[in-house]
Amino acid sequence: MPSRPEGTALMEKLVSLCKRRGFVFPASEIYGGLNGFWDYGPLGSQLKNHLRDRWWRDMVECPPIGPDGTPLDIVGIDSSIIQNPKAWVASGHVGGFSDPMVDCRATKSRYRLDHVMVFRPREGADIHPSFAFMEGRPESIAKKMKGALRGRPAEELFEVVALEDLTVDDYPMIVAPDTKEKGTLTAPKQFNLMFQTTVGATGGPENLAYLRPETAQGIFLNYKNVLDTSRVKVPFGIAQVGKAFRNEVTPRNYIFRSREFEQMEMEWFCHPDEAEKWFKFWVEYRLNWWKSVGVNSENLVLRKHDSDELAHYAKVGAGTYDIEYRYPFSGGDGFGELEGIAHRSNFDLTQHQDHSRTKLSYFQADTRERYIPHVIEPASGLTRGVLVLLCEAYDVDESRPSPELMRFHPQMAPIKAAVFPLVNKDGMPEVAEKLYMQLRTRHVTKFDVKQSIGKRYARMDEAGTPWCFTVDKETLEEGSVTARDRDTGAQQRVSLDAVPRFLDDKING
Ligand code: GAP
Repeated sequence: MPSRPEGTALMEKLVSLCKRRGFVFPASEIYGGLNGFWDYGPLGSQLKNHLRDRWWRDMVECPPIGPDGTPLDIVGIDSSIIQNPKAWVASGHVGGFSDPMVDCRATKSRYRLDHVMVFRPREGADIHPSFAFMEGRPESIAKKMKGALRGRPAEELFEVVALEDLTVDDYPMIVAPDTKEKGTLTAPKQFNLMFQTTVGATGGPENLAYLRPETAQGIFLNYKNVLDTSRVKVPFGIAQVGKAFRNEVTPRNYIFRSREFEQMEMEWFCHPDEAEKWFKFWVEYRLNWWKSVGVNSENLVLRKHDSDELAHYAKVGAGTYDIEYRYPFSGGDGFGELEGIAHRSNFDLTQHQDHSRTKLSYFQADTRERYIPHVIEPASGLTRGVLVLLCEAYDVDESRPSPELMRFHPQMAPIKAAVFPLVNKDGMPEVAEKLYMQLRTRHVTKFDVKQSIGKRYARMDEAGTPWCFTVDKETLEEGSVTARDRDTGAQQRVSLDAVPRFLDDKING
């Protein structure tokens, strides 16, 4: 019987498997780690690369067919992480890319204002302090509230409100999430999320530069270069995959919100009158794309941003949709962001045109019209996508001797196949090795002779390897191997020379 845990229990199991099997490690672990930074191990980096490569193929090498039946034109770039700091002034990140945050004077902890919730006493309740907790984690302060409740249910005495809906006059009565005293929270302050560095040997404020907080600006900075050197015409897209850095106030939920992460972004440049049409197209295409890499449609939703949550670049235009995923930590029926699709209008190109004094308008030859294109931007997190694939894949099947397995989509699986000799003698290792040498040139394949066959299957199940091929007595007698399906554990016989085609079909569909 399957008994997949849920919520925080699932996250605990998943994080432990990911560490044990080499998917994700805390960065600088031997020095105690560094909050908000993660390293991807042998299996994790394979998984991440497979997701990245599939995105690149479907967005750049073989982009979709557009709504009117014509193949779309998208080119890729790879821009610098550090750009001229004036670019970040123009983009609005120096002035606007900040989160309001509150500090706790007692513990020195810092919280993002919009991530803190408060149990506030209801009118007439015989209770005084309010208790703050991190969104989605009310249980973390249960012990602290026990004395105040004296056995009564929390809902009876308290209502839950967002800290951002309270005023600073309420703060003296609030017990911060990680302390027992009240009144330790400071008034909210803006905190810019960009990491700073200096360029060159002399340092100093005049050499200040920023690590990019999004890959998108590198695309806008190269818009003219691409137009001048490629034969693209509006509408067209420029795509980029790469690192982004944000000094997040509260990095949390494993690799969901980290300080160094990777993005897969595409800026689609189109005529302003066609922006609505393309917005609709990209929202639908991107939602279906996540399903095509193995994400269950029941765990995905589309959510339109309310006007007060739109990013500075999306204030005008058709708005922003988020593709959200049901993360184990989102609580019950909750969802969290996986990808945003924003109508950035002509905000970025206009800003860069004004700040750089470089003409960035487009001349459309057939209509003799000159305009600054509007932009539709599907922007997803690569590392956040890895988390989604991990959450989707994790499963427990109690009928197996080692119940944990990762049910990755075959194209995403870090390892596609394993070849085993049933025993390490009687000519089986030689035949198995020959098969392995054949398969490894087509797909990532592992050869394993150590321990019992059951343990070897279990190791591959945990790594999410869809197929294992075992060379046994029958192979020597009649030339067929045992092919074992990770998902069902079912075995079938496949003739030795048909194994490469069999595996191709299973992986490529
Ligand atoms: N260029 C637009 C842009 O950067 P965003 O919504 O801030 O928009 C796009 O980021 C995606 O990048 C998000 O949907 C998320 O998947 C990912 N992302 C953003 N911040 C992240 C973080 N701190 N850690 C991991 N992924 C993050």
